[in-house]
Amino acid sequence: MTTITSYEDYLKEYKKSIDNPEQFWGEQAENFVWKKKWTSILNWDFEKPEIKWFEGGKLNITDNCLDKHLDILAEKTAIKWIANDPKEGSISLSYKKLHTQVCKFSNVLKNNGVVKGDRVCLYMPMVPELAIAVLACARIGAIHSVVFAGFSAKSLADRINDAGCKVLITADGGYRGNKIINLKNIADQAMLDSCSIKKCIVLKRTKQKVVIKKNRDVWWDNEMENVNENCNSESMNSEDPLFILYTSGSTGKPKGIQHSIAGYMVYTHFSFKNVFQYKDGDIYWCTADIGWITGHSYIIYGPLLCGATTIMFEGVPTYPDAGRLWEIVEKHKINIFYTAPTAIRSLEAKGDDFVKKYNLSSLKVLGTVGEPINKDAWEWYYTKVGKENAPIVDTWWQTETGGIMISNLAGVTPMKPTFATLPLPGILPCIMDDQNNEITKNSIEGKLCIKFPWPSMARTIYGDHKRFKETYFSAFKNKYFTGDGCYRDENGFYRITGRVDDVLIVSGHNLGTAEIESAIDQHPNVCETAIVGYPHSIKGNGIYAYVILNSDIKKENKKQLKLELNELVVKEVGPIAKVDKIQFVVGLPKTRSGKIMRRILRKIAEGDTHKLGDTSTLLDPKIIDEIKKNAEYAY
Ligand code: WT7
Repeated sequence: MTTITSYEDYLKEYKKSIDNPEQFWGEQAENFVWKKKWTSILNWDFEKPEIKWFEGGKLNITDNCLDKHLDILAEKTAIKWIANDPKEGSISLSYKKLHTQVCKFSNVLKNNGVVKGDRVCLYMPMVPELAIAVLACARIGAIHSVVFAGFSAKSLADRINDAGCKVLITADGGYRGNKIINLKNIADQAMLDSCSIKKCIVLKRTKQKVVIKKNRDVWWDNEMENVNENCNSESMNSEDPLFILYTSGSTGKPKGIQHSIAGYMVYTHFSFKNVFQYKDGDIYWCTADIGWITGHSYIIYGPLLCGATTIMFEGVPTYPDAGRLWEIVEKHKINIFYTAPTAIRSLEAKGDDFVKKYNLSSLKVLGTVGEPINKDAWEWYYTKVGKENAPIVDTWWQTETGGIMISNLAGVTPMKPTFATLPLPGILPCIMDDQNNEITKNSIEGKLCIKFPWPSMARTIYGDHKRFKETYFSAFKNKYFTGDGCYRDENGFYRITGRVDDVLIVSGHNLGTAEIESAIDQHPNVCETAIVGYPHSIKGNGIYAYVILNSDIKKENKKQLKLELNELVVKEVGPIAKVDKIQFVVGLPKTRSGKIMRRILRKIAEGDTHKLGDTSTLLDPKIIDEIKKNAEYAY
């Protein structure tokens, strides 16, 4: 596996990967265990679209995540699980133990009728058994579809039905902070509407009472008793599907993003090692949930392929208090820490005392993912968490890309606050203008596309290849369209400016909502901001800000605060970006992955509060009523 150790090295490897991608990725693929070597490295056609990597090869990804390590890393901790409740402590699973558990559960799946190619739905809390179930599916060639355990029964049923899942794996309940989620009850409701499920395997976690349906529901523990500890890994083709993962946030039918085995394996290993500069012995923690792509690629597959120790945390950042993450960093001597801007901002808002209480000197690398990180949050993360000693990798990627695409390499390539910076080897980004032409100059902004295939890219939308083509390969000929806006600075560094549907045209000027939000967020009284456009008779679009304050302020001071916020906007972005209306809110409508549902905010800003569309994927739908009620008090 190529390991990049200097900026010069990066430039050299990048050039190699672009001049001769097949040779580059062929060399990377040599580092894995194959049952049969590939016959061709890449075949592709973005018109169809059809992308095939390492065809002719046969392999099993779990041979590379587990069996491969048993010679020398058998006793090393593969997964260290940390319970929601600090009093419950943690559990370490060595590579050997994890291997045994995965083999046993593979046999359980087989005993319950799962065969190669079947889809298995996982609706589970963040417990080790979730990782075990994921890997067991991969071992027997079943396709896993993990559904985040915060989704409703309807969302779960939609996803089960779309993929035609045969088996559902769930738990009696799950802990999240001081809440218990009744997973089995929700799963029962979902199964009323999904007839494809033949068996439901239930893990005991919270020990609450659940209904067990005869001939359908079985207990995880009972199934694991007396089952054989050996299970040969199924021989899979490189391009066989590894998993389906539904993308969040959009309306209508969910999109089941489908990834293939070999390319995903090669790329998640390569990107994990190089972006985080993982070294043997490092303790690595990604705070995401396995229900999202970040958890798939950088809690399970990437780290295990590398033989790393990966932390799995069951709880939430604010339980029992806002110092929880830092308490874990200190206690488990975390070296590499990977989280989302939304978590950073919310912890920043709770004050520095929670961070100061703990010794964070083990931290060598910090990471961020999921949305543009604003300057203020970046600074706080860098100085208060990393003590200016740990580089921050700002990793841009998507469910569809499978792995990190644009990011600095920790301590190796330059970092620039709020910039994802440079593409990884093999990644050919380009920026398109409004006339659909590629812009080759620097210091420009446009729509971000990728010009050449990379190993971990999605291959299709499950059951809807037409939609796959329309969504990603039709806006620009022969290019993968990311849906993101992007700025490239004078040095060729990339800064993701947010979804292009978040762009506002105000008096003919292009403004990124993230830029304005970032400016307002700098005010000491502000916790978080969401900007949307609303129809404006003179400017085309007016700017509407929803602002969450750290602490409530008196009504008569709100006008003054608006002036102060606009001063910041003028200073950071320019007078054109001055906010027209500000509404102070107690919360924002967010999807469970932390993304703001701007579609809804736009409707409310427009004064159209009736047809808000599908709100079932929201974390807290009640927040909308609150916002609607107070819309008339916008300043
Ligand atoms: C969208 C993809 C990738 C795992 C988590 C999200 C935004 C992601 C960054 C970043 C700015 C980012 C983009 C992208 N995004 N990372 N470092 N800087 N924006 O996966 O739910 O598929 O969302 O998240 O807009 O398109 P996802």
